[in-house]
Amino acid sequence: MKILVTGGLGFIGSHTVVELQNEGFEVVIIDDCSNSTEKVLDGISAITGTTPLFEKLDLKEKDKVSDFFKRHQDVQGVIHFAASKAVGESVEKPLLYYENNIGTLVYLLKELSQKNKASFIFSSSCTVYGQADEMPITENAPVKVAESPYGNTKQMGEEIIADTCRVAPNLNAIALRYFNPMGAHPSTEIGELPIGVPQNLVPFITQTGVGIRKELSVFGDDYPTPDGTAVRDYIYVVDLAKAHVIALKRLLNQKNSDNFEVFNVGTGKGSSVLEVIQSFEKVSGKKLNYKIVNRRAGDITSAYADTTKANQILGWRSEYTLDQAMKSAWDWEQKIKGQ
Ligand code: WQD
Repeated sequence: MKILVTGGLGFIGSHTVVELQNEGFEVVIIDDCSNSTEKVLDGISAITGTTPLFEKLDLKEKDKVSDFFKRHQDVQGVIHFAASKAVGESVEKPLLYYENNIGTLVYLLKELSQKNKASFIFSSSCTVYGQADEMPITENAPVKVAESPYGNTKQMGEEIIADTCRVAPNLNAIALRYFNPMGAHPSTEIGELPIGVPQNLVPFITQTGVGIRKELSVFGDDYPTPDGTAVRDYIYVVDLAKAHVIALKRLLNQKNSDNFEVFNVGTGKGSSVLEVIQSFEKVSGKKLNYKIVNRRAGDITSAYADTTKANQILGWRSEYTLDQAMKSAWDWEQKIKGQ
């Protein structure tokens, strides 16, 4: 069975392609390589022994999207990762984000709506909750006014899919709301490849560990949390990838009760910035160079998932600990150092 993975050369996309191939799916990747490289194909095939089909294509080019689906009529499911995802950049360039994240989603859904049956997995984010009122966060928590155009594109994306599924019973969809993905495949053949200075905590920590960065700035230690630093739910990327395959199978086997469902994907455990640093120091045996600075604008105090719905309905739960995920991130960083 052929599955299209858009953004399949990216961090979460590539790990999901590996898990799809492990489960016997034939995979075709569309990626515009704006935030990834074709070399990731070698990493995937080094792990699974199979190089996925790949087409370098910009999903903003509507005619090329149509042409792709004419040439791949046997695609039965789509996992849609391709999107711009830098929160800060989205504030500076909102139209780039609305065009790239929303326009492309509409083109994909128009193609899928014309098929007899199609399954669609959407890469969403805990960002839709903003600062939730209660921890852990359930899927029923109210969606808050987005703090950035990036977060808005995730909220709008979910609404667009819901509205489409309402009038397209042939379309089955699931949105997965990721918490904070981290780590790398245990083979160290694929992992996170941030371009430029990492915005996210874990790659900044590992780059500081190998000496690429001088020191980590901890954005605030005056939050109302046990140690004063902000709390997040750090989910190992392989656990996250497996959640996509389980969700896809639910749709392909038509086990879903509604043709649009939403699931949180996290560990269900909150970790503070200082706890993440302690995890790095434990697994690496190195002291991390860091300093406490002011809070980063737009950051929330705390977010960690209630994963009951995914546990009970999908039959998925995270299996790896923060230390295991951090070890994989550290092994990966040491492997790619200086490449
Ligand atoms: C985590 C914590 C920072 C960097 C973002 C997106 C979210 C999702 C995941 C896509 C925060 C602190 C960070 C640093 C620090 N992306 N930090 N020093 O902001 O929770 O979520 O990435 O879906 O949508 O919003 O992740 O890794 O940037 O920050 O102290 O150099 O680490 O303040 O408390 P975030 P993050």
